[in-house]
Formats: sequence, structure tokens, C-alpha cells
Amino acid sequence: MERLKVLVTREQIAAKVAELGARITQDFAGETIVLVGVLKGAVIFVADLARAINLEVAFDFMSVSSYGNTREQSGDVKLLKDVDHSMEGKNVILVEDILDTGVTLSFLKEQVQRHTPKSIRIAALLDKSSRRRVPIQGDYVGFEIPDEFVVGYGLDFAGRHRNLPDICVLEMEKSS
Ligand code: IMP
Ligand code: MG
Repeated sequence: MERLKVLVTREQIAAKVAELGARITQDFAGETIVLVGVLKGAVIFVADLARAINLEVAFDFMSVSSYGNTREQSGDVKLLKDVDHSMEGKNVILVEDILDTGVTLSFLKEQVQRHTPKSIRIAALLDKSSRRRVPIQGDYVGFEIPDEFVVGYGLDFAGRHRNLPDICVLEMEKSS
């Protein structure tokens, strides 16, 4: 049996996204940026964040596989989809739903770095920093959360629950 418990409400998310968007707008004043979303979990965050940024913003997307249908990082990240355009000379913000072990984002950051962008930053809505296995930090982080598996606002478990408007802890209960 599954149980969903709200951890971060849609109102808290909206306020935080507005705050992050304002910070990015300030930090990149007078510049243009490319938001590179990590499919599929970051799609909802990218869509909201982009509209909270008052600059010229382009979109691109990358996709990786690593988790399969489990909750654990296998450590073996495969690039399924690269960006469509060169990031050379661009201000890139990699946008991810959650920073967990850090394996995925350090892999993706390295990929983008090869394009020699003008700058590269990381935006992650959630951060489980207690689980970090590789040293990487977000530049624009929404919420530090405890070591629990969460779904909603783009995050899934085996493809499910991405469309929940709030971020919820997914509790697995043994049926008695
Ligand atoms: P990392 O490589 O361990 O940092 O994992 C990052 C990826 O793992 C994210 O893009 C998510 O897809 C997934 N992930 C990590 N923690 C959670 C969670 O609590 N819920 C859903 N997906 C998660
Ligand atoms: Mg994901």
C-alpha cells in the first residue's frame, strides 16, 4: 500500500520559484540565458521557473537514464538525449528536480562543460544534501529536504505521480 503525505505545498513551491526567478533575473541582468531542463522530472519546474525570469530565455533539454524503476541511484548514468544546440558562449542553467547523490548532475555538468559555455549554473528545486556521494552544489536551490522519497511537481516513482501539484513523501506500507 502507498500513502502520500504532503511535504511542500503548491503555495510554498510557487513562492520559492518566484524567489529563484528573481535571483536569476538579478544575477544575469542584461544577459540572455538557456535553461537546460533534465527530462522528465524537471519539466514542470522549468516551465514555472522560466516564467519567473524577466530576461530573454531559451529552452533546451537533456535526458539520462540511471534509476530504472527503483529508488536507488545505480551510479551508471547514460545520456539518452543531448541538447539540440551548442551551448558555446551561452549562460547555461541546468535545471533539475532534485539533487540527491549528485551523480546525475555532475555527469550532465561535465557534458555541457565540453561546449565551453560562458557560464554554467545549477538550479534544483529540491536538495537531499545528506545523500551526496559526489561533491556538487546547486546555485539556485529551492528546498533542503530530509532523506525521504518524494513525488509530485514532476518527480515520479516508476513514472507515476508526476502530476501532483504538491511535493509528497511516498510512504510504502506493508499490507497486513
Ligand atoms: P542523483 O543522481 O542521485 O543526484 O539523482 C538525481 C535523480 O534521481 C533525479 O533527477 C530524480 O530523478 C531521482 N531522484 C532522486 N531522489 C528522488 C526522489 O526522492 N523522488 C523521485 N526521484 C528522485
Ligand atoms: Mg528524474
